Amino acid sequence: MAQVEQLLPLPGPPGANAAWQQRSLRSIWHPCTQMQRAAVVPPLPMARGQGPWLFDLEGRRYFDAVSSWWVNLFGHADPGINSALKDQLDSLPHVMLAGCTHTPAVLLAERLSALTGGVLGHCFFASDGASAVEIALKMSFHHWRRIGQPEKREFVCLRGGYHGETLGALAVTDIDVFRDAYDPLLMRVHQVVSPDARQAAAGEGAADVAACAAGELEAFFAERHAHIAALIVEPLVQCAGGMAMHDPDYLRRVRALCDRYQVSLIADEIAVGCGRTGSFFACEQAGIWPDFICLSKGISGGVLPLSLVMTRDAIYEAFLGDEASQGFLHSHSYTGNALACRAALAVLDRFAQDQVLDRNAEWANRVDAALDPLRIDPRVEHLRRRGMIWAFDVRPEFAGERFAERFHLAGRGHELLIRPIGHTVYLMPPYLLDSGLAEWLAERLLKTFHDVISAEDAHADRTPEPAIA
Ligand SMILES: Cc1ncc(COP(=O)(O)O)c(C=O)c1O
Repeated sequence: MAQVEQLLPLPGPPGANAAWQQRSLRSIWHPCTQMQRAAVVPPLPMARGQGPWLFDLEGRRYFDAVSSWWVNLFGHADPGINSALKDQLDSLPHVMLAGCTHTPAVLLAERLSALTGGVLGHCFFASDGASAVEIALKMSFHHWRRIGQPEKREFVCLRGGYHGETLGALAVTDIDVFRDAYDPLLMRVHQVVSPDARQAAAGEGAADVAACAAGELEAFFAERHAHIAALIVEPLVQCAGGMAMHDPDYLRRVRALCDRYQVSLIADEIAVGCGRTGSFFACEQAGIWPDFICLSKGISGGVLPLSLVMTRDAIYEAFLGDEASQGFLHSHSYTGNALACRAALAVLDRFAQDQVLDRNAEWANRVDAALDPLRIDPRVEHLRRRGMIWAFDVRPEFAGERFAERFHLAGRGHELLIRPIGHTVYLMPPYLLDSGLAEWLAERLLKTFHDVISAEDAHADRTPEPAIA
């Protein structure tokens, strides 16, 4: 229970939360938020973070059950990451990566490549996740042109997938609430069925759904492959689409199909990479390597924006030539920021030194056991887990109006920062559980669930709500 008890809230000045909430609403246009609704669900004004806990201005604490949009792997204000950052800050906070280089970026690229056994030998840096997706799409398209196959210029993505909200990334995203308003602006892409294991019919398993989804992809490739540059997937878990999980066999089949039909495979590991699914890269669980891996979020431990695209040397070499225009002319000002790379090195050190994956597996079993009551709850379906991601769906007839919003607000009352996606409740905690915290977390989740479900009037208006992560 150490981590639960040590950090009891300290009293803060009364009224501080409301005052800063009002100032925030007057000056900040918050992301992923209907601002008219933000008056009813005001943003939590956070003062500090320590480990998995966040403290508001009045001293109340909240367990960050979503790792602050899935970025915070080792808790807030981690001393190891902080000391690496302080050291880097005093030597070289940033330098542009065109015409210059620096040791944190080089070491990071080398170490990440080594984690793929050298299969993905080059690393292109950017800043946020969506920028990595843009880069992978552009690189794939351009690489086919460079090797004399310019007709390969179309992209394929999965139904229910999410890859970010810039225009290219949004084009390969299939979540209506994010893309509908911009649809006229988006490039046309192909969508294939998701291998979401929840689609299994009676007597079927996740592997059957995977085989069926791969079968559809095969039929599509057979007809259209000459025009297809790349397929983009979120390996093992389609996160923002509602934590839809699939069998690793899907990825094996997809790899074989991409090889057979000469299609680049882009693994968007922005949410699922860095140990989130139980292996450092999610693709490892299928025993495959894609042609591109996009990483972001957890790679810098949740302190600074960093993203990167790893790719095979053969793709890198296709861009070599005498003319500048034959190269990959893409850049962002903060590409490969030295501070962010240094934080990422501290994250990799942690994986190398602390048996993070083994410990996560051990504590995850405790959470599983403590969530057992949900397995037989008739209001719940599809309780599932992959690595450090737990999810379950509340049956629509029990969820009621504005379920995610009510769940989030009830969570605040139980010291949880949690944000369901539609009717899907999920946990993506930092990798800091101990036995006390694992049980505390599950218990608070169940209490929140019971508050929300028992408060639900069975005759409430069933207005569906948009699913926002
Ligand atoms: C799989 C995936 N790809 C891309 C992104 C976009 O990352 P960012 O929000 O940093 O642009 C996200 C964000 O949630 C994601 O989950």
